[in-house]
Amino acid sequence: MADNLKFGPTRRTVIAAGAVSAAATSIPAYARPPQLPAKAPTVMPVSMEVNGKTQRMELDSRTTLLDTLREHLKLTGTKKGCDHGQCGACTVIVNGKRINSCLSLAVQHQGDKVTTIEGLGSPDNLHAMQAAFIKHDGYQCGYCTPGQICSAVAVLDEIRAGIPSHAQEDITKAPKPSNMELRERMSGNICRCGAYSNIADAMAEVAGGTA
Ligand code: FES
Ligand code: FES
Repeated sequence: MADNLKFGPTRRTVIAAGAVSAAATSIPAYARPPQLPAKAPTVMPVSMEVNGKTQRMELDSRTTLLDTLREHLKLTGTKKGCDHGQCGACTVIVNGKRINSCLSLAVQHQGDKVTTIEGLGSPDNLHAMQAAFIKHDGYQCGYCTPGQICSAVAVLDEIRAGIPSHAQEDITKAPKPSNMELRERMSGNICRCGAYSNIADAMAEVAGGTA
């Protein structure tokens, strides 16, 4: 025993160490215990103007704008559909431009002006686009409707600003709110009930044109 301590590892300890390392490398990745994050989530102060009111919050830096609106500010008009930027149900207007709020972190919007469906109009004082959707029956179940309306309002602003689209017939001329133009620009807003034709009619009326 005294000799073992004096001259380093014995044959037995070498075999044991080899067995342990062989067992560790043979465990497939999916069977290993999950690695915990080195640090706790970071909480950050976030301030933004939502529907004309300044909101100051302390948020986990991973919180999306969509979850901030729905879970922290209780503005549940904005809907979560896919949560992957593919359906448009979460569309809100930020500094005059429409975005998918599920793809954006709240901390990216310090000082921004956010407008949700609740901020466009109220039941007693509807926005022209909200009234047109009702008049033209631009919905069925209504789940996609807040995103459709926010998107529609921003689309007409884009056309007025002369921002081109893939469907524009003549890129040298200002875009017009034609049926094809409206449908192209609204293509990121999915309606599982298929109310597209009526949505286009509502938008055309607000744009002052015909669908
Ligand atoms: Fe954001 Fe579908 S919930 S795009
Ligand atoms: Fe039902 Fe559009 S109205 S999904």
